[in-house]
Formats: sequence, structure tokens, C-alpha cells
Amino acid sequence: MFKAVLFDLDGVITDTAEYHYRAWKKLGEELGISIDREFNERLKGVSREDSLRLILEHGRRGADFSAEEFAALAKKKNDNYVQMIEEVSPRDVYPGILELLKTLKAHEVKIALASASKNGPSLLDKMALTDYFDAIADPAKVAQGKPAPDIFELAAKEVGVAITESIGIEDAQAGIAAIKASGALPIGVGQAEDLGDDIALVTTTAALTYEYLLEKWQEKHE
Ligand code: G6P
Ligand code: MG
Repeated sequence: MFKAVLFDLDGVITDTAEYHYRAWKKLGEELGISIDREFNERLKGVSREDSLRLILEHGRRGADFSAEEFAALAKKKNDNYVQMIEEVSPRDVYPGILELLKTLKAHEVKIALASASKNGPSLLDKMALTDYFDAIADPAKVAQGKPAPDIFELAAKEVGVAITESIGIEDAQAGIAAIKASGALPIGVGQAEDLGDDIALVTTTAALTYEYLLEKWQEKHE
């Protein structure tokens, strides 16, 4: 039986993946780099700095900025994003997530956050979810961001559960790759064309019930 569930945040617990997209799109427009939803699939789950690197490369402007200018661009995007999430509240928690957290708690399954976002703790607070989490893995403490497995490994370690006894839930290509590399069981939120057809997928978080997780775990361990 699985002993921990390691949650991504943006796009899994709430709709903030959309705000990240809008904030990057706006920065891109200021730089003359167009960012569409297809390109955005490559940014999802990726750290702030790595996202900016991908965007600048995409616009062939990778060599145009000094380290200071790069940091200023990353800050600009984050300032805009922080403004966008100011009003986030418990009403913004995706369907089924609160019920899932409660059921996991009732079954003594550990709950950890494995998000690349430095805004993760403040978002959990805004949604009144912090108390459900046994650990929040700090993205500043890992050597490599998603698609490397580090943040999922750290999240499992922080709740004292082997990664192979954990389920990871993700909406991003980079995140699914990270879960696969970690050895946890991946469950994707999204479409097969984005996340692949070789993992368990739900198209809405309302389908992420404890029973669904059990079923997927049992299928894997039959
Ligand atoms: C998550 C999001 C990414 C974001 C990253 C860093 O992984 O999916 O879109 O770039 O976190 O977030 P931050 O809030 O620290 O800029
Ligand atoms: Mg995400």
C-alpha cells in the first residue's frame, strides 16, 4: 500500500498554472518573444530561472542579458505573478482536492508538497491547506529542478517514506518525467497528448479520489 502522496501545486491543487502562463506571456510580449499554450507546456513545472532560460532561448535572445538583467526579468515576472495570486482563497482549491486530503489523513497516508514554486507555502496558506501537509519540500534545497527527480525525492524523505511507496501527482511534462525518474507512481492531471499515454491520467481533479489512487496502486503491484 502507498504510504505518501506527493503533490505538485500549480495546476494540480489550484489553477495557478494559468497565472504563471499569463505572467510569462506578458514578460515575453515586453521582450518581443511570443509564448503560446503549446510552448507553455514546456514551461510547466519548470523553475523560475529555467523557465526564463527556455523563453530567452525560444526567442533567440539567450545571449542578450547580463546576470543582473536576467535576475531583474525573473523578478519582474514574479512580481506580476504575486499580484495575480493576491486574491487566491479556499474557493480556488480544485474540485476533489480537499476531500482527497481529508481522506488521505484519515488513512494515515503522509501528504507532502513537491512544487518547484517558491510561492508554494504562501499559496497553501491562502487556500487554508497548510495544516494538511506533513511536509513542504523546499525547492531552494534541491540541486536540480524538474524533470530531475530531486524535489520528489526530498518530499518523500521529509515525510519519512520510501519514494517507491509514494504516489506523485502532476500536471506537467517535466513533473511526470521527475516522478518517473524518482521511482514513485505517477498520476497525471491532463491530456494524453501532453502527458503521454503510458501513465494513469485524470482529466479533472474531481476524479482524484482515494479509491482511484488505491486502484492505480493495486494495478501497478498486481
Ligand atoms: C511551478 C510552476 C512553474 C513555475 C515554478 C516556479 O513548478 O509549474 O510554472 O515556474 O513553479 O515557481 P515560482 O513561483 O517560484 O516562480
Ligand atoms: Mg504543475
